[in-house]
Amino acid sequence: MIIFALETSCDETSAAVLKTPDTSPSLRRRGLGGGLELLSNIVSSQIDIHRKFGGVVPEVAARHHLENILSVIDEALNSAKIKPTQINAMAVISGPGLVTSLMVGVETAKSLAFAWQKPLISVNHMYAHIAANFFTEIVFPAVCLVVSGGHTELVYLKNYFEYKKIGQTVDDAAGEAFDKVAKLLNLGYPGGPAVSAEAEKFLTLKISPPCFKEGIKGRSKNLRPHPNPPLETRGGGCSIIFPRPMIKSDDFNFSFSGLKTAVLYAVKKMEAKEVKKRVPEICFEFQEAVVEVLTAKTIRAAKKFGAKTVMLSGGVAANRRLREKLEEAARRGGFEFSVPEFKLCTDNAAMAAIAGYYLSLKSKPRLDEWKRVKADPNWELT
Ligand code: KG4
Ligand code: ZN
Repeated sequence: MIIFALETSCDETSAAVLKTPDTSPSLRRRGLGGGLELLSNIVSSQIDIHRKFGGVVPEVAARHHLENILSVIDEALNSAKIKPTQINAMAVISGPGLVTSLMVGVETAKSLAFAWQKPLISVNHMYAHIAANFFTEIVFPAVCLVVSGGHTELVYLKNYFEYKKIGQTVDDAAGEAFDKVAKLLNLGYPGGPAVSAEAEKFLTLKISPPCFKEGIKGRSKNLRPHPNPPLETRGGGCSIIFPRPMIKSDDFNFSFSGLKTAVLYAVKKMEAKEVKKRVPEICFEFQEAVVEVLTAKTIRAAKKFGAKTVMLSGGVAANRRLREKLEEAARRGGFEFSVPEFKLCTDNAAMAAIAGYYLSLKSKPRLDEWKRVKADPNWELT
């Protein structure tokens, strides 16, 4: 089966072609097995355009999707060496996301599905992020932490397509917090990669406040005292410490807006020169706070719901520290661990294609399905 997919939910215009194994009953029972082949996954990013605005401008994003989408589609088909006649089904991410961006992908997919006479599968953006893990077989039940620029959710999965959201952020998403902290430290857009690059510097510079005599886990033992006096203290020591919001709450919800404010207050207390010098340290401690909360709550959820596998997905899953820490905690807890390869974490159409494949196993899409597909910016995963 050949699935052709589109994704335009935010500022990436993407098209992908996925070859899937025959959908024999035994494969359905087992899940997937081998035979999945990603023939192309073209992602045209608008990062350089939005960088000068310090974030995504919806109207600008939609215009660029419109300008780019046909050439992205052409490239995806050409590099997969696939003709439209060979396509068996189409998939498109129809929400959540920016409505004007979503509409470009959705309306293009509907037009092509009508013109090519193909069934069109409507895919939820968060389910697509989760499905980016399905390129390898998953041992169910599983708990997946989905962390993106707009969402932070914990999802329980009974199998590839039966799932339930068990927790979410009550305010900012984790990616949003990274982006906002980057903005207040003048690190540019997108914030996540910039903040994590600064945090890595702190690790590799081997700078440490004197209180960390033995070094903290993951950091070289060969530490020298931090050159600048610390703001707040840990154990009579000296480093900046940010809160770990809701880490002890009984539910599986998150909150990151207070953490962002804590960073703001810490920065406000410093001279501009000091802030500049301590950017790696601030980023490191902010990232540690986010990673610690996400890890603790995900593992607690996996234990409570009797999961066999802990999964991670979404743009923030590209964060090395989170990948390492969550995997470490999962393995320690006796769980399997799954995370997509880096390029499948941030928005892309391959995740829409594989999500579409699983949805097509659940119920066969109809040829006139395009009539029902609609961009839905608030489509909640339930
Ligand atoms: O899933 P995604 O591509 O788009 C949305 O659906 O929102 O996620 C984008 C988010 C942005 O907030 C970006 O800053 C964050 O993922 N991100 C990262 C990293 N790479 C991307 N956050 C932390 N560390 C990273 N390495
Ligand atoms: Zn996304």
